[in-house]
Amino acid sequence: MSFMTWIDERFPATKVWNEHLAQYYAPKNFNFWYFFGSLAMLVLVNQIVTGIWLAMAYKPDATLAFASVEYIMRDVEWGWLIRYLHSTGASAFFVVVYLHMFRGLMYGSYRKPRELLWIIGMIIYVAMMATAFMGYLLPWGQMSYWGAQVIINLFQAIPVIGDDLSVWIRGDFVISDATLNRFFALHFLLPFILAALVFVHIVALHKVGSNNPDGIEIKKGPKGNRWSDTAPADGIPFHPYYSVKDIAGVIGFLIIFLAIVFFAPEFGGYFLEAPNFEPANPLKTPEHIAPVWYFTPFYAILRAVPSFAGTQVWGVIAMFASIIVLFFLPWLDKSPVKSIRYKGPIFKAMIAMFVLVFIVLGYLGMMPPSPVATLVAQICTILYFVFFLAMPIYSKMDTTKPVPERVTK
Ligand code: HEM
Repeated sequence: MSFMTWIDERFPATKVWNEHLAQYYAPKNFNFWYFFGSLAMLVLVNQIVTGIWLAMAYKPDATLAFASVEYIMRDVEWGWLIRYLHSTGASAFFVVVYLHMFRGLMYGSYRKPRELLWIIGMIIYVAMMATAFMGYLLPWGQMSYWGAQVIINLFQAIPVIGDDLSVWIRGDFVISDATLNRFFALHFLLPFILAALVFVHIVALHKVGSNNPDGIEIKKGPKGNRWSDTAPADGIPFHPYYSVKDIAGVIGFLIIFLAIVFFAPEFGGYFLEAPNFEPANPLKTPEHIAPVWYFTPFYAILRAVPSFAGTQVWGVIAMFASIIVLFFLPWLDKSPVKSIRYKGPIFKAMIAMFVLVFIVLGYLGMMPPSPVATLVAQICTILYFVFFLAMPIYSKMDTTKPVPERVTK
């Protein structure tokens, strides 16, 4: 009896391999935009591996944390590399996931039957934000401290429970050692929850099958190809075709990623901010507090909404709403076609506007407020919500092109 037969009689190894890789038929027309799911998995693995190594020398103690990071950078063998892989990895994770989500937006990948796949993706995204936010406190630099202070203080704006809630989150009346300890515990835990969520994401994907740049269902098309009589005619086995293609994506990604890790790990202050090279000082507020770039579009929305009657609560609501609205995307798009390739000029103009508005908000969120910047942020905030909330109307009004029967190149 062969070794594999012995295993298969006790564990469905070959069955899982075939169902999810060697005989999993993916549309044959995947393009550049389909690299980012596997790249997100790669970055998640990088974060977990480098994170565990960092945790071996890091000290989650307000009196020791900053110095322990300096110790990692200077004295731990290869510590500087492990830390830069982790800090650059955090930004790379968001770059990759934003591109992954944008692909979904372009090709209507969130639409029936992939609504739940999209929602699981959104849960992943929110969990990623929480992980990154807590991780940022750990080096206990000035921006770590004051950034966390600003964001946790936002919860105070919530009526009735706000004050108690913010104390509950911090474990103290200000950001302190108690906050650092719990953030470390949760920052260690969350990536494993992310890994579990990614597993569920893939299970949901393999139930419905991948969408593709044409936005048509290969499962509904003709059957039979050179590998199987029952497989979709426009499908090719994931392994070896896409497993090998994804390696090309990995190489391209690593060239850019490692160039940043080795030559520009601070990335001009965008990946590691200047005030974070100073230890946290509760008595000295930095001149300008801004979150890391991947949060700034939402931070700009928060600041764009003026306080009414002395409360910032409407800004807080707008900020959370700007994320929550994404969960509803599958039900906002009423177009008869999925992919941008067959959508009309209105959708194309709206998606271009959305990208522009997201980038402008991201930029404004990094800048100190000024009257002009606030006005621009207010206009962009309105347009951000128009993109989503007016979608049921403009996606129905828009013209569409005829969708082909079979996938194109
Ligand atoms: C840790 C983060 C994530 C990982 C590791 C991940 C992984 C993957 C992988 C491997 C695929 C299949 C390959 C591909 O289509 O690129 C996929 C597909 C998909 N993901 Fe994610 N994903 C993540 C986050 C997200 C987020 C935040 C969303 C959206 C909110 C999302 C929505 C989707 C959708 C809609 C598909 C199907 C796309 C299609 O078939 O056209 N994912 N994901």
